[in-house]
Order: sequence, then structure tokens, then C-alpha cells
Amino acid sequence: MSTASTPTRTPVIAGNWKMNNTVKETETLLKELIPLVEGASAAVVVCVPFTDIKRAAQLTKRTNIAVGAQNVAWADKGAFTGEISADMLKEAGAKYVIIGHSERRQYFGETDVTVNKRLKQALSKGLTAIVCVGETLLEREGGITEQVVKAQIEGGFKDITAAQTKKVIVAYEPVWAIGTGKTASAKDAQDTIAFIRGVLKKRFGAVSGEKLRIQYGGSMNAQNVDELMAQPDIDGGLIGGASLKAADFARIVKFKA
Ligand code: PGA
Repeated sequence: MSTASTPTRTPVIAGNWKMNNTVKETETLLKELIPLVEGASAAVVVCVPFTDIKRAAQLTKRTNIAVGAQNVAWADKGAFTGEISADMLKEAGAKYVIIGHSERRQYFGETDVTVNKRLKQALSKGLTAIVCVGETLLEREGGITEQVVKAQIEGGFKDITAAQTKKVIVAYEPVWAIGTGKTASAKDAQDTIAFIRGVLKKRFGAVSGEKLRIQYGGSMNAQNVDELMAQPDIDGGLIGGASLKAADFARIVKFKA
């Protein structure tokens, strides 16, 4: 918890819609969600498919919901078939972008090097980046969770300055907990996130490390959110499945810690 000597970190709850919702479905979900999250004390973000960003941004314009993307190109423009640039995202209305989600790492060849390139680009364009790290089941069982997340942070944040971390959120997502219904216990999540904060403090200094928000992600839902959010180093959540149902996502946003 924040004390007199540590800065307050505003919790941030972000939905990761993944490859779900057409524009029509986006309209339905957001129209339901907007009144349910009104007045929330946490910051609220929905990271939607590229094609939904513009409509989502229009619908949430005078609300407390911000819109994010799920990836960003590392280049400004040019011959990068299939990529979407930071300027395009911003023009469509995105303020946030997820970088290095484990599904990108697993299925699309994302590495700490490409995460680093995308992160630099996002920050240089003024987007807030949600940088994902997390171990696989094999790595957890092998007892190398800390080693893995440390390497992901060091690689992903190469050449990033402490000042730039103001626009960074880290999401700790154990891969084995994503979409599986298996959540890390609140204690395990807290322990790894406290470890990550230690790595960030060493890398960026105590002040910046203390200010950095770290989310938990991996089967976070309306039932387990309160216990997870009660942990001192957990500053929010990155929510997949449960972000697709307005009532569930709203309950997570309005967690009781
Ligand atoms: P989940 O996904 O909540 O469905 O486990 C989280 C994520 O992948 O960001």
C-alpha cells in the first residue's frame, strides 16, 4: 500500500478484447459498459481490435473509458505489410497500446528485441504502453520464473529512460494462467510482482520504480479481483475473457480492496 513516503499509484484496469468483437458488437458492449463503470476510481481502458478503435473512441469520448490497441509497428510508415503505425492508432483515437502479449510472443514471433522496438516507438509517439511479461508453466515448474521475467524486462526496456516510464504500465501475466481459468494465487502474484518492482527500481531508480504501475493478468475475474487488488504491489489488471461481458468487467473495475 502507498504510505507517506511512497507515491500513490492510481489503479488501472484494462480489458484486452483480443480478436473479439466486430464494430457492431463493440457498439453493443460499450453502450452497456459505459454507464456501469461511470465514477470508478480506477482508470479504465479497453484494448480493442484495430478495426474497432475508431468507433470505440467515438463512443467513449465523454466517458472515463480510454481506448487502446493490442500492438503497434516499430516503424513510422512504409513497407511493413500487415502492420499498423502509432500515428494511425492515434488518429483513430487510441491512447494506450499493449506490447509483447504472450500470444504475440507465442504465435507471431514477438521477442524481447521486437518488444523493445515497439515500446520505443509507442513512447516516442506519446502512447501509453502496457508491456507484458510472464513465465510459461514449464518455466514456473523449472523454478526460473524470476530469471525469465527479469530477462524480459531487461530486454524489453533496453535504452528506455526513467523519465519515459511515466507512460509505461507493466502487466505480469503468467502464461499458464491466461484463458485457462487458473489464476495465480494472490500471494504468488504479489511475490512475482514485488520481484518485478525490484528489478524496475534497480533499472530506473527507486522513485520511478515505485511509481510504475504493475498489473496482474491471467484469468482475473469478478470473483478473484478483490483479493488480487488487495495486494500491495498489484496496481490493476489486464483482463481478457472477463472483459467481454459488461457486468463482469464493471465489477472488476469497481473492485473492493
Ligand atoms: P484472460 O486473458 O483474462 O482471458 O486470462 C488475460 C490476457 O491475456 O491479457
